[in-house]
Amino acid sequence: TEIQEAHRTGYHFQPKQNWINDPNAPMFYKGIYHLFYQYNPKGSIWGNIVWAHSVSEDLINWTPLEPAIEPSKPFDQFGCWSGSATVLPDDKPVILYTGITAEQPEPGYQVQNYAIPEDTSDPYLTKWIKPDDNPIIKPTQENASAFRDPTTAWMLNGQWEMTVGSKQDMVGVSYLYRSPDFINWTLVDHPLHETENVGMFECPDFYPVSITGENGLDTTVIEGEIKHVFKVSLDMTRYDYYTIGKYDIEQDIYIPDEGMIDSWAGLRYDWGNFYASKSFFDPSKNRRVIWGWANESSTIDEYVKKGWAGIQCIPRTVWLDPSGKQLLLWPVAELETLRDVNVQLSNVELNQGDKVEVEGITVAQADVDVVFTFPSLDKAEAYDNAWDETYPPETLAENICGVMGTTKQGGLGPFGLLTLTSNDFEEYTPVFFRVFNTPNTNRRVLMCSDAMPSTLNEQEYRPSFGGFVDLDLADNKISLRSLIDHSVVESFAAGGKTVITSRVYPTLAINENAHLHVFNNGTEIVTIERLDAWSMKNPMMN
Ligand code: FRU
Repeated sequence: TEIQEAHRTGYHFQPKQNWINDPNAPMFYKGIYHLFYQYNPKGSIWGNIVWAHSVSEDLINWTPLEPAIEPSKPFDQFGCWSGSATVLPDDKPVILYTGITAEQPEPGYQVQNYAIPEDTSDPYLTKWIKPDDNPIIKPTQENASAFRDPTTAWMLNGQWEMTVGSKQDMVGVSYLYRSPDFINWTLVDHPLHETENVGMFECPDFYPVSITGENGLDTTVIEGEIKHVFKVSLDMTRYDYYTIGKYDIEQDIYIPDEGMIDSWAGLRYDWGNFYASKSFFDPSKNRRVIWGWANESSTIDEYVKKGWAGIQCIPRTVWLDPSGKQLLLWPVAELETLRDVNVQLSNVELNQGDKVEVEGITVAQADVDVVFTFPSLDKAEAYDNAWDETYPPETLAENICGVMGTTKQGGLGPFGLLTLTSNDFEEYTPVFFRVFNTPNTNRRVLMCSDAMPSTLNEQEYRPSFGGFVDLDLADNKISLRSLIDHSVVESFAAGGKTVITSRVYPTLAINENAHLHVFNNGTEIVTIERLDAWSMKNPMMN
């Protein structure tokens, strides 16, 4: 139907049709960006997984190639699951991926394989070979069905090392492997890292970040003015969590920094729909870039009708916040090449109850960047300490967003954007802040991206995603950037401190019937210091 067609994205990464999940083995090679991803060539629900492959010169315009890796050998005949690329010296890329060799034990018997390009002089790396000495790593009896997603490798003492996600009961485990030649791997006697009470580590990612600037680093950098990031996708909560810490190369172990929360209550790349992410170092721009998958939040019936499911979020540059306590994530600069018609607002005061419409652009496919200011923090509403007792720490922000919403009047906030709004506000996806007065904690600024009012179709999953923004607001200012693209809203607070992605399916607020507003529902005046909004063009998309 027309409504479902309107939910296809305009500038997010999508193939023409069918199911997609995890981004795999992103890399930059001979001037070309490669993205592989989990893909079902036969339909729009998960299954028959192959590695689809697309190439790009700018991370924005994409050309599809034939699938790079498909089930065909005993070591992967039931599926080619997630993995990573490492570019070896002499510019030789190698992929490590998980092969499913049997359907039992569920969800499949898991081994690790490697694949190499047939012709390294072809910058498109069109054809991949799966050598016959695969599998290169077999599981033990206990973890045969929970042993997957090998990382990009690094070098320690002249040997390659990489890690594979796993679990032992509820302990997430990242097994370490070592190899002199990338083919013969042995299990190191201790894991790189493990975490109690979190369940399976899916898609681990382990990389250095600079403590002196925003430049990214290759995984082979293991010493110097750096910290390391360890990220896992936890299948029980479906979020990507990270800690910042030290790679202790004497003990060959990762140690999270003091104060890092290593649990479901820890830091997330994104407090919304963003999973199974994978980063890579881009030597052409000296940056590290993260890809992550946003699943549908609609019913399976709808994906079958649409003929597609899943998108990749806009790739994000990642670097260490100067505090050293968190990462910052920001859409890659190349996205700005899609900016078209621009409208601006400046110095617009919003009193309690005000809504200002942003007109003149295609608001269902837009990039919006706004800075809010306010006279003081004095009117911030009191933080309700009962929330800390009522809600577990890992869902606290989301729960407060859910109970407070945009309609409960506050002091300083709620204020922000109403994206994908229908004519009479029957539907709207608000992205907003509420500031709480909590003298004894740093949980003052709450960011919400609330799918609850996003659609009249109550069948959809409509979470009130939320995250705290670690900001003292000393300058009485906060910024917000939202990438709106038909069925996805990706929002970045305070230059990338807190990020939330929502998938939403309006029935009225579609295409040219959608509106965009800036609102304030707090007693304190909030000023739009500056707002820039752009229509976004369609890139070449597969
Ligand atoms: C994460 C994941 C991975 C696995 C792949 C299968 O979404 O479950 O652990 O390799 O998807 O498609």
